[in-house]
Amino acid sequence: MCGIIGYIGNNAVEDILLSGLKSLEYRGYDSAGIALNDNQGIDVFRAKGKLVNLKNVLNTQNLKNKHFSQGIGHIRWATHGEATIENAHPHTSNDGNLVLVHNGIIENYQSLREELTQQGFHFFSQTDTEAVVHLIDREYKKTLSLESAVINAIALLKGAFALCIMHHNEPDKIIAVRKNAPLILGLGCNENFIASDIPALIGKTQNIIYLDDNELAIVEKDAVVIKDFKGNILHKNIEKINLAQDDISKQGYKHFMLKEIHEQPRIIRSMITANMSTPFEPIHFNGINVEDLVQNVDKIEIIACGTSLHAAMIAKNIFEELCKIPVIIDAASEYIYKSHLTDAKTLSIGISQSGETADTITALKQARTHQAKILAITNRIDSTIVRCADFVFPLNAGIEVSVAATKSYSAQLAALYLLALAVAERQKCADIIKLTKIKQELFSIPNKMEEIFYSCNHIKQCAQKYSKYHSFIYIARGINSASAFEGALKLKEISYINANAYLAGELKHGPIALLDSQLPVFAILSPDGKIYDKIISNCEEVKARCAPLIALTTSDSFYKKDLFDDVLTIPSVSELLSPLLFTLPLQLFAYYFADCLNMEIDQPRNLAKSVTVE
Ligand code: M6R
Repeated sequence: MCGIIGYIGNNAVEDILLSGLKSLEYRGYDSAGIALNDNQGIDVFRAKGKLVNLKNVLNTQNLKNKHFSQGIGHIRWATHGEATIENAHPHTSNDGNLVLVHNGIIENYQSLREELTQQGFHFFSQTDTEAVVHLIDREYKKTLSLESAVINAIALLKGAFALCIMHHNEPDKIIAVRKNAPLILGLGCNENFIASDIPALIGKTQNIIYLDDNELAIVEKDAVVIKDFKGNILHKNIEKINLAQDDISKQGYKHFMLKEIHEQPRIIRSMITANMSTPFEPIHFNGINVEDLVQNVDKIEIIACGTSLHAAMIAKNIFEELCKIPVIIDAASEYIYKSHLTDAKTLSIGISQSGETADTITALKQARTHQAKILAITNRIDSTIVRCADFVFPLNAGIEVSVAATKSYSAQLAALYLLALAVAERQKCADIIKLTKIKQELFSIPNKMEEIFYSCNHIKQCAQKYSKYHSFIYIARGINSASAFEGALKLKEISYINANAYLAGELKHGPIALLDSQLPVFAILSPDGKIYDKIISNCEEVKARCAPLIALTTSDSFYKKDLFDDVLTIPSVSELLSPLLFTLPLQLFAYYFADCLNMEIDQPRNLAKSVTVE
């Protein structure tokens, strides 16, 4: 949520800020702004909407003759106050000398605002952030030192904040602050950078320092000093990042989402082969000792949000089936506020693509206070979740740019299958022949994923045919119930179509009242005999209400063809592993549906890739 960039050095400040913001646009696009400092004063430029609007504003300015030495920039995902120019960052002190950008939420902003208003500060926005700029300004007027002013001010703030602050009178430095919102420093030669995330620094530097919570950095052109919130100097490691521009380019695809969907076979293949050389040998993880992971564990809880929560729903089925361990799943936002059974015999698994989802991180920190073991499954090994965990399963899916999660989801599923199989092997809780068969089948999954791409055109035609409808229902049973939830989420987030998922057996208990010829139903037919027959009966009930009916099923298990208006198929697969394959046509259907409507597929409205506020 919200992206921050800062730069100090001799190169073109404006260009560096804009290219950094472009790479951070997945974090929000409600407004964008930059502040540039030269000898004359600080210039602030802001625009509502996407970065391109800010660029248009800048094109009307004559900045060529100015020499800026430092700047900060921001793209916003609105929390407090609508997406307007007044609420866009950077925010400025009343005398125009102090500017800052913020990611996070200041929980006590209301009382600070009242206090500062009484003291004569004028507010021009509805944001929580503006209280911070006036607070630091008040302290600056007392101390005449930006560093002291920041240290005094942040001691009065409650909530989450990553901040970049500069003052016209101190043009040799930018101050960066981190508390419960990500921030990194990029070290260059006679230049330094601050950013919310690594993509903003690709092509600029490979040397990174990760700020931790309750740390601030005084960033100068040729020096960086890191301190705790009391002002004590800290010594931090410099780490190398190894990413190229190619890692965040569309590589010829129309959208990042389509590119990321097509990356899935490769990612799953390399995850499987990295952890088991053949199906006949035990699974081994680099960095996770399975014995330690499950020693003294009598239950597993899985905590996640959104698509990652759907992966958790599938994991419950896998672990209970293979490992005979009870699994509780919780949306992180719910876990935080309820009583739970977490204790020292619990393995708490947090699943998060970004590793920065605030709800998931807060929940895991809570689980830790109950002495649970923490396993993080994440696509970002540089993220906050890793620092909350005892064990980490890196997904290695590469940077996922599209806001709609696709490749990270199937990578999460593959990781969870491998983990469950490894636990079942070590604990001997399932027959070895059965486990070997599942492992053999797992090896075949990437090729079968590739086969699904042969039917892209068919899926596209089907999506185009249904793109005239304004609502959708997805149904499934058993392990694929979560596939139905994920299919519906993909469609709604990129098409703005009202798509809901139901357990097929629950339709008759209420949702069936919705059905008519204007509400298509997308049925995911699990390949297994028992469930297959039941869901066919549910589809008969749907057809009797004249709802258009699409089947998604395996190529070999299909009968009752006449019942359906359209049929999409995947290669033959067992029910246990079928979510890995069903997800691809569901993603492609949502993608082509949205593309047919000309939607902003990679950056859907109101969403952000990394949800760093609770
Ligand atoms: O980074 P995380 O996996 O923790 O993100 C959780 C959700 O915000 C995320 O999965 C979201 O639902 C996706 N946009 C769905 O496509």
